[in-house]
Amino acid sequence: MSTETLTLTDNTTGNSSELNLLRGTLGNPTIEVKGIPGDLGYFTHDPSFGTTASCESDITFIDGDKGVLLYRGYPIEQLAENSDYLETAYLLIHGELPTGQEYKEFSTIIRRHTMINESLKSFFNGFNYNAHPMSMMMGVVGSLAAFYHEGLNMNDREHLMISAHRLISKLPTIAAACYKHSIGEPIVYPRNDLDYCENILHMMFSVPCEEYKVSPLAAKALNLLFILHADHEQNASTSTVRLVGSTGANPFACISAGIAALWGPAHGGANEAVLEMLAEIGSVDKIPKYLAKAKDKDDPFKLMGFGHRVYKNFDPRATLIRKVCYEVLEETGTDDPMFELAMKLEEAALADSYFVERKLYPNVDFYSGVIYKALGIPTSMFTVMFALARTSGWVSHWLEMMGDTSTRIGRPRQLYTGAPLRDYLSMEKR
Ligand code: ACO
Repeated sequence: MSTETLTLTDNTTGNSSELNLLRGTLGNPTIEVKGIPGDLGYFTHDPSFGTTASCESDITFIDGDKGVLLYRGYPIEQLAENSDYLETAYLLIHGELPTGQEYKEFSTIIRRHTMINESLKSFFNGFNYNAHPMSMMMGVVGSLAAFYHEGLNMNDREHLMISAHRLISKLPTIAAACYKHSIGEPIVYPRNDLDYCENILHMMFSVPCEEYKVSPLAAKALNLLFILHADHEQNASTSTVRLVGSTGANPFACISAGIAALWGPAHGGANEAVLEMLAEIGSVDKIPKYLAKAKDKDDPFKLMGFGHRVYKNFDPRATLIRKVCYEVLEETGTDDPMFELAMKLEEAALADSYFVERKLYPNVDFYSGVIYKALGIPTSMFTVMFALARTSGWVSHWLEMMGDTSTRIGRPRQLYTGAPLRDYLSMEKR
């Protein structure tokens, strides 16, 4: 990383601050502002962190204007074409693609730790049958810390790595158990002979009383979706994982916090919200009405699955997923009118000047929800699927942060706009 300096001068006082201009490998140069409070007595103001780099990271690079997404330098298009989810997870965690032997070892570790403690299963009985799977996920994933006290020395790199493996291995089992609980079916044990995505489908859809064959199309589509969702640099949930982790909290608490952040409809909850929106729109003839609502500033309605904080031209994941979406719809031969509605809505929004001018394109979640629905995955599980995929990204960032000797507790400042200093008044004087 090269360093130059910039001088920031306060024209009122004449005081100045020498600021480092940091250049990473790719992307915008970044001004280091930490000297400003000491030199000038000012804080910097960046609500929602639109221009603030919160950390240095070697994991993922995004160029939002050009629609570029790289994991450890590899374009997402090449990984989507050639890799599988576990290999991508290894790449994110370790920084390099695995050799054959490394892949075998990693895959064995992940496959052999898929079972959850039997007593964890009884947690599910405490949830109402209609509990949202994301709410169960947050609770049960956080509670994993209660089972692994002895492995939570945050200064021991081996403990960190074991926890990372446990999270990637066990979250699909927990996710499937959440689903089984919600439909009143027995929890299905993992099968270590299946690959990662096949195992998820097996645990979700098989029942003890009959044989279940994993659909190769479903496993392939899930694998692609998981690669595309595996990481996305400092998004809201990953930043949450890092912030919680910066306090020294255990990884299960960190990932549970990441799941909570992901749940919001402006983030990972969007894939579920897309389907809810399509249900609300109901039919193709209502599209103009809903486009008008999305454009009306006095109406809170937004076109879910459109727009992105970083991608302002196109979301490269959406381009890849769109193709698979059409393939899945064709192969499953589904005639659900919702799919036609989704495709017509996409067409109408892409031809509408409001969306074109604001560079609002369908994002990855517009299509992922449609694919999940075509694969028979219930709407309430969409964000859970996203959480499973993103776990490899979350743990990679957490491991990177924990290995960085410059990590300090995350602690933003504020621009206080409340009441100035005043004296307490006794109740009779108010
Ligand atoms: N529908 C209608 N108008 C929109 C939409 C939308 N989906 N998204 C943005 N706009 C409008 C804004 O109102 C704003 O209009 P203005 O300039 O006239 O005021 C303009 O487009 C710019 O949008 P911002 O709000 O500045 O975009 P921001 O970066 O803050 O938000 C976000 C990005 C949260 C993704 C937003 O586009 C949105 O809410 N989309 C729908 C939810 C969604 O799909 N989220 C998934 C994101 S992908 C992911 O997390 C994996």
